[in-house]
Parts: sequence; structure tokens; C-alpha cells
Amino acid sequence: MKAALLRLKDEALAKLEGAQTKEDLATLKSLYLGKKGELKKVLTSLGTIPPTERAALGKVANEVQDSLLDEIARKEQTIGEGLKAQALNTSIDTSVPGRSHRLGSVHPLVQTSEVIFDVLKKLGFCKAQGPEIEHDFYNFAALNMPKNHPARDMQDTFYITDDILLRTHTSSVQIRAMLSQKEPPLKVMSWGRVYRRDDDVTHSPMFNQIEGLYVDEHCSLADLKGTLSAFAAGVFSKDAKIRMRPSYFPFTEPSMEVDVSCFACAADLSCRLCKGSGWIEILGAGMVDPEVFIACGYDPERFRGFAFGMGVERIAMLRYGIPDIRLFYENDLRFLRQF
Ligand code: DAH
Repeated sequence: MKAALLRLKDEALAKLEGAQTKEDLATLKSLYLGKKGELKKVLTSLGTIPPTERAALGKVANEVQDSLLDEIARKEQTIGEGLKAQALNTSIDTSVPGRSHRLGSVHPLVQTSEVIFDVLKKLGFCKAQGPEIEHDFYNFAALNMPKNHPARDMQDTFYITDDILLRTHTSSVQIRAMLSQKEPPLKVMSWGRVYRRDDDVTHSPMFNQIEGLYVDEHCSLADLKGTLSAFAAGVFSKDAKIRMRPSYFPFTEPSMEVDVSCFACAADLSCRLCKGSGWIEILGAGMVDPEVFIACGYDPERFRGFAFGMGVERIAMLRYGIPDIRLFYENDLRFLRQF
């Protein structure tokens, strides 16, 4: 029995030596010292031993138990220290300054559009949208430009079929908005990409427009002027003035080009923006032509309307002093990070 106890001890000590983790230790502890452990099995058989030998064997058993408990405690400590050292080696130094991620910024064209929307929203315009691939009817015919109308040449168009094209302006959305609402009043702003065969430093084959349309029973050129004055003050500078010059668009009568007073100079001859005139052209506008109302089923005797349309790139180039329209589309981070 004594020999069995000593063998048990040797075996347990050898296994404890190989234990790597706290879990290994717990398993070995219950295997040898647990309620149903190996040592208990030997101790329960003590009852069968003659009483004279029992005390001596009990002593040996206790010694075995003590030395195993000692070894387990020692091992626990070694494993614990190992874990601590490992944790120290791999720990995170929270005092090191973090590496910050570069945040993107809102594209200057989107920033400019947002400023314009904000101003128009305050004037009561709601957003309206239409498709970029458009039917001739919305882009031209309903805007008083039937097939072969010479004004179609003003906008060199990308045709997909005879009747389907890439919209050349957001004025097509005016038609969609009026056809989708049976009766005025109507006050909408539309925006988005438009396409023309054009490519130089101030023109791109794709660019963005924003358009406004207001139709009501009482709506006059004075309302248009007031709206555009508020627009210029909100988008350029609070004392910006506007000037209207007669022009021609098939879908408005009268039609005009609208200039804003130069915000870079006081009519300085060397001014790059206004070239000394003191005025910068910003958009086209006019009173909606009765023919357009007829195409949309509105009574031209009862309703009046005004409309205006502008290139967002042009407004952004003026606001930020950008000389080349192509910079907007090149995705050059050195350019974009400035906004
Ligand atoms: N659609 C015109 C263009 O792209 C701009 C324009 C002019 C829009 C007069 C209008 C307007 O709504 O009334 O050149």
C-alpha cells in the first residue's frame, strides 16, 4: 500500500511538472486529490488494513497529499507569473498618441449645391427630380422646341435614338413636375447632371444644373427679380446686386441672362472675374412661355410662372476662384482636400 502511495505521488508530480495552464492544474488536482480522486481511492481502502499499520500509512497518505498540494501551489504561481509577463509584453500603451484617419470632405460641387438649395428652400421651393436619360418630349418638344427648331442647336445633344437623349438641361424636370401636378401653385427646384457635346476649360460634356420653377395665378417678373436678388445675396454676398439682360430661350418669354455684381472687385479693369465690367453672368431665366403651359395642360390665361436655371460648376468656380472646370472631376485629392 505504501509503495502504491509513493507511485501515485511520483506519477502525479511528473504530470504536474508538465502542466502548462491553470486548466491543466485544475484537471490534475481533481484527478488525484478530488472526491473521487486516486488518493481518495487508496485512503478508502485503509479500512481493510490491520489497525497497527493504519496510522503509519495514513501518515504517508497525508504526506503525499501535502506534497501534491505544495507542488500545485508552486506551479500555480509559476503559471500566473508567466501570464503576467506575457500580458506586460503585449500590453497596449494608452498614452501613445493615436494615428488619426484622414476624413474625406464634401465635394465642392455638393457644397455649392447645398448652399443653393438652402437659399431656395427658404424661399419655398421643394425638390423635384427627373431622369438623366430623357425623352425628346420633356427635354425639347414640351419646352417649345419642336423637332427642327433652330434653338435645339444651342445645346449640342447626345442622342441615344431619334427620341431618346441624355438631357441637356434640368428644364425637362419642369415639364415632369407640371404634368405630375394637375393644378398650380407649384414651386419646385430640380438638380442633377446634364450632358452636352462641349469640352474646354469652362465646359464639360457632363455638368450639373439647378433649376427653379414657380407657377401661380399671380406671379410676375418682379417676383422673379426678388427671388434672384435673395438668391444672389444668399449664395454670393449679402450686398450682391443682380442685373437682368434681355436674352432668348424658347421656353420663356421674356427671357433674360442674369448677372451678379462682382464680389471680387469694384469694377476694377484688371479683375479676372468680371473683366472690369463689375458684373458676372450667373444664370438664365424668364417668364414661362404660354406654349409650355399648354403642353402641360395648364391654362395660360389663368397662370403665370417664372423659371431660372444655372450651372452649379459655374457658380462653384466663381465662389472658390477655380480656373478649370475639369478639376471638379479628376478626383485629385490635393484639389479636393482644400474644401
Ligand atoms: N435651360 C437653360 C440652359 O440650360 C437655362 C435656363 C434658362 C433655364 C432660362 C430656365 C430658364 O428655367 O427659364 O441653358
